[in-house]
Amino acid sequence: MKGIVFKARILTCCFIVLSISGFYGQKSKKSQIENDRLEWFRNAKLGIFIHWGIYGVNGISESWSMYHKKISYEDYMKQAKGFTAKNYNPEKWATLFEKIGAKYAVLTTKHHDGFALWDTKLSKLNSKENSPAKRDLVGPYAEAIRNKGLKVGLYYSLCDWSHPDYKVVFPRPNTKDKYHQKGLNNVEKWQRFVRFYKGQLKELSTRYNPDLYWFDGDWEKSSEQWRAQSLKDSLLKWNPKVIVNSRLKTHGDYSTPEQGVPIVRPDGAWEFCMTMNDNWGYFPSDKNYKPNSQIIRTFVEVIASGGNLLLNIGMKPDGSIPVEQESKLVVLGNWIKKHHDVVFNSEAGIPYGHFYGPTLLNKEKNKLYLCVFDSPKNYISLKGIQNKVTSIKVVGTNEHLKYTRNGGASWNNIPGILRINIPKQESLDPYVTIIEVSLENKLKLYRGHGNAVELN
Ligand code: GLC
Repeated sequence: MKGIVFKARILTCCFIVLSISGFYGQKSKKSQIENDRLEWFRNAKLGIFIHWGIYGVNGISESWSMYHKKISYEDYMKQAKGFTAKNYNPEKWATLFEKIGAKYAVLTTKHHDGFALWDTKLSKLNSKENSPAKRDLVGPYAEAIRNKGLKVGLYYSLCDWSHPDYKVVFPRPNTKDKYHQKGLNNVEKWQRFVRFYKGQLKELSTRYNPDLYWFDGDWEKSSEQWRAQSLKDSLLKWNPKVIVNSRLKTHGDYSTPEQGVPIVRPDGAWEFCMTMNDNWGYFPSDKNYKPNSQIIRTFVEVIASGGNLLLNIGMKPDGSIPVEQESKLVVLGNWIKKHHDVVFNSEAGIPYGHFYGPTLLNKEKNKLYLCVFDSPKNYISLKGIQNKVTSIKVVGTNEHLKYTRNGGASWNNIPGILRINIPKQESLDPYVTIIEVSLENKLKLYRGHGNAVELN
């Protein structure tokens, strides 16, 4: 009897061990697949956000102008009459994006206002049936972007302030004639709405095969209401490699902070999205542009914390890029070109405290890049580096800089301060100068708060 009990216990233990290892095996396989899906995104550094919609016709804020009752629903929608896309040339967009070093683009296929930029079969509120553009605008974009080797992102707002089944806070006329709801009248409103947006996403997925979905508006409902898990499963079924931003409740693959650069590094893969002036859409009266230096500094701060910058263009209703915005893209692109090898072969740098500014590290972790924003005075200091330094130079001009190490007690694990001579004026970049510090081995950082030197 004892023998039987003993054997049964052993079998139970084996079963538990096998189940646990199976579970972890599956889990690590799952996270491996997730990592592979995100690989290109983690190395992308720069993406271009394109807000293109009927709101550019009057030059007012995208969808929000009706929410805030600055315009009635009818007058807002009348803007569609001026949405011509007559200078739409996505190859030109793609050529520019590639030239400036962007690796992906994200186009607003449907904002909260419900107006779709493709000929969706599920509503007439689209560029083909409801505007002088008279055609699908998403397909040519996806093709042109992909032909230049960039990844194709589609923005889609889950909420829809035009759909008759979607409850919004402002009055709107009966929009039923714009939506194909035949035969579905008995289905509960929300279920019908879920069917609608899932149907639109199926169209987008199967027709354009996007690499990335950029959801928005998820804050209006709960994860259960959006059927977020099942939606994510369907998206992956339609495009197994697609990645999704964090605005699908908790089901996103990467986080999406907006407008204010994160002070603390977000966990995991992330992207910071930002406007060049204060508006997402084409808003000609908004001249509050960020200076080029601020855009370039922001880009550097973001990549130094391991993220990507998704920089926005408010596209004109005729499909052309506003001149001020194009020129800012070109300035950023020139800076990236000059520092290309550093930007694309590096990852997040060391924590703040060692150097007064952002830093980057090459993938082998034996080159540290100091990003110098202003003209330095006296010397540049770097603290807490345990390694022997082999050379220091300015990226772009190759000027070698002299350095000395002072203080510390290396035999007691207390590194001194590395004092680097400042570069010549002509070596300084007008926006951000990058100084390459080459180390003998893989970076070893001192992160202590100091201690007594016990042996001299
Ligand atoms: C916010 C705004 C939306 C904009 C988006 C871009 O969610 O509501 O209008 O398109 O940010 O990040």
